Parts: sequence; C-alpha cells; structure tokens
Amino acid sequence: MNTAYSKELYDRACDVIPGGVSSPVRAFKNVKGHPLFIESAKGAYITDVDGNGYVDYVQSFGASILGHANEEVEKSVAKAVRAGTSFAAPTKGEIELAVKITERVPGCEMVRFVSSGTEAVMTAVRLARAFTKRSRIIKFDGCYHGHSDALLAGGGSGLATLGLPDSEGVTEGAVADTIVVEYNKVPELDESIACVIVEPVAANMGLVPPLPGFLPKLRQACDQVGALLIFDEVITGFRLGYGGASNLFNIEPDLWCFGKVVGGGFPLAAIGGHKVIMSSLAPLGGVYQAGTLSGNPVATAAGNKVLDLLDESSYGQLEEKASYLVDGMQKIFEAIGIKAVVNHFGTLFSVFLATDSVANYADAKISGDSHLYPIFFHEMLNNGIYLAPSPYETWFVSLSHGMAELDATLAAAKKAALAVAAR
Ligand SMILES: Cc1ncc(COP(=O)(O)O)c(C=O)c1O
Repeated sequence: MNTAYSKELYDRACDVIPGGVSSPVRAFKNVKGHPLFIESAKGAYITDVDGNGYVDYVQSFGASILGHANEEVEKSVAKAVRAGTSFAAPTKGEIELAVKITERVPGCEMVRFVSSGTEAVMTAVRLARAFTKRSRIIKFDGCYHGHSDALLAGGGSGLATLGLPDSEGVTEGAVADTIVVEYNKVPELDESIACVIVEPVAANMGLVPPLPGFLPKLRQACDQVGALLIFDEVITGFRLGYGGASNLFNIEPDLWCFGKVVGGGFPLAAIGGHKVIMSSLAPLGGVYQAGTLSGNPVATAAGNKVLDLLDESSYGQLEEKASYLVDGMQKIFEAIGIKAVVNHFGTLFSVFLATDSVANYADAKISGDSHLYPIFFHEMLNNGIYLAPSPYETWFVSLSHGMAELDATLAAAKKAALAVAAR
C-alpha cells in the first residue's frame, strides 16, 4: 500500500504540530508507523490522501453513526451555514435539540450545550460539587472523561495507549479530591463524596460492559450517602440505544454527559439532568459555565438531523451488524487457535488479544501489554480496514456498513489473526 503522501504530510505536520496530530489518540505511536492523512470519507469508507480507501471503524471515534457525509445532514448543515455560522445568541435549533434529548432520555429534564465532552464532564462535576457542597469525586480506573485536570487520573484510552500513568502538568492539588477505583466493583462511599462518575458501558479501555448488578448497586450506594451519580454517555448516548445507556439499563443518574453522536460530527456536547440540579447553572444559579461557540447553529443543525434520522430500528440494525462481526471474529480466533476475546454489548464491541476475559482496566492492560495489537492493526490496514491505532479503543459500526463491508472485515480479520498466530 502506497502511503507516501501521508508520510510527507506527517513529516511536514511534525514541524508545526506536536507529534503531527491535533489529538494524541490519532498518533500511530502505539502501533508504529505514521498516521494516515485523510482526504475524504463517505458512508462506511474513509479515503487517505494517497487515494487508498478503507472500511472505517473509527467513524470519528463514534461521532458518526449514520456513516460519513450523510446527504440529509449535509443539506441541513449547508442551510445553517448559509444563515450564518455563529451568533453567540440563542437560536431555535438549540431548543429543538434539547427537546429531542429530554424526550428520549427519561429523567433528563434540561440540557446545557457545550463544545466538547471534556467541557460537559467538567461542568457536570462542578455542578455536583456545588449541589452537594462536597469536594471529593470518584471515578473508575480505565474510564475516560476528557482531559480536564481533575479527571485525568486513571484515564484509560489515550493515556493507556501512550503508556502514560497520568498527565504531567496536573498538580497534586488538582487531583487531590479525585479517587480512582476499580471498574465493575461498587466502591465504599461516605458523606464526603460529591459524585461518582462512570461510563455505564466502559468504552475507553476497549469495550468493558458492566457486570450484572454493578450499575443498580452503584445507584443505591450513591443514594445512601447523598452523592450524585453522573453517567458519562459521551460514547453511549444515542449510540447504544434510542435513549442511551440510562434508558437501556433503566437507571436514572442525576446528571448525564453527552457528546459525539448528539453533535452529528460537529463540536457539540451537552450536560443534562434534573431541573433541580440544572437550575444551579448560571444565569439561574451560582455555578458558572460558558462558551462562545456553545450551541453553535451549524452543530445543532447537524445534531438535530442525525437524531431525526435515528429510530428504535436503527439500533436493531447496528446491533445485528455488531453481532455479525463479533461472532465471525470469535469463530476465526477459535479456529486459528489464538487466545483472544471480543467483548460485546449491543452496538459496541472490541477485540482483546492475548486474554480471554476482560472486566476491568487491569485485565485490559494484559492485552495492551502483549503488544500483539500492532500486528493485528497493520494487517487489517493493509487489507483495507481502518481501526483505531490503539488496543484500548472501541470499534464503531455505522448504519452505512453493509454486508460487503462486514464480510471484507472478517476476511481481513482472518489474515490478521493468522499474522498474530505466526508471531
Ligand atoms: C466517555 C467519554 N467522555 C468524555 C470524552 C471527552 O470528549 P471530547 O473528546 O469531546 O472532549 C470522551 C472522548 O472520547 C469519552 O469517550
């Protein structure tokens, strides 16, 4: 595969952009080589600047659920652009999107729009601290909640991929009130805890579903001490099901964080929650939060259209596609005789090599530390399948992935598994 122009652009980028990338999870440091520079994408496919096409399972790290460059979304966005791209004043599109979210997610009565998942989480934690008048927060090892200082401890995904324990530059003070505990185990809580934040289905250490009882018991534990429960649904929101993970598990957190799908591929995210808590936000209450581009009209046009195009049946289709790949890959691994497990929950899944059971971050690291993923990754890439350059990312199937793409993926997975076995 000729990727010479990508390499040339990468070398140029490295001069002016640290590591040549605008976000470290795009780097190929873990899998080695240089990142591909992307020219365009359509549906299930992504095309690099050298003209190579790949079936894409990154799908903008889950932001794209319909597939790339959906024509109806394109039309809505073009119309919004023609009407002006940013006013820093309220628009009707914000109300429409807020109504869609609150109608789909039981218990989520109000939302505030921001521009990234990181901001949504920062604000949710600030709200929880203000509302409870407590300082300490609990997060789970391997769950990623964006790159704000207090949440970077035990951050999974990008940090894990680069082999970093935590980020430099985060002061001890900034994380002094952050307690990191094991995923899938309900921690002991006390009345010093403002909130527990969790990815209801963890998707930043590979895909790690909650064990039966984990989420209901976590809800109970929070209620017992008056701590708020925050569901970080930046990945699971409108991806796992019509009403996200909380609706699927029938558990109401006190606050939600949404991102990715809800922004239709644009920089938009949201904090949601019960009115009594959300009313603490400025200008109603004393919790300050703001953003020049928050609720941007182009982003809300995209988010509105994407949510309009999703219904209950969309999730059935995504689940079928995911199951087809999961079953196929599991059979391939068994037939070839390599140790591997495909963790799967609904529309989401990921492959763990070198282990047969992953329920938390320590388990996931056994797979990451085996250094087998780069072999699998490059064989997939050479056979036209674009995966995230990290063993800790979840695979994202879109509604545009058809049988031809799924079968091509399984054919490539067989070659990739053979390459791993030959190692
Ligand atoms: C669960 C979760 N929370 C928060 C974030 C941060 O979102 P953003 O990258 O938009 O800041 C991510 C990003 O991948 C995420 O997966």
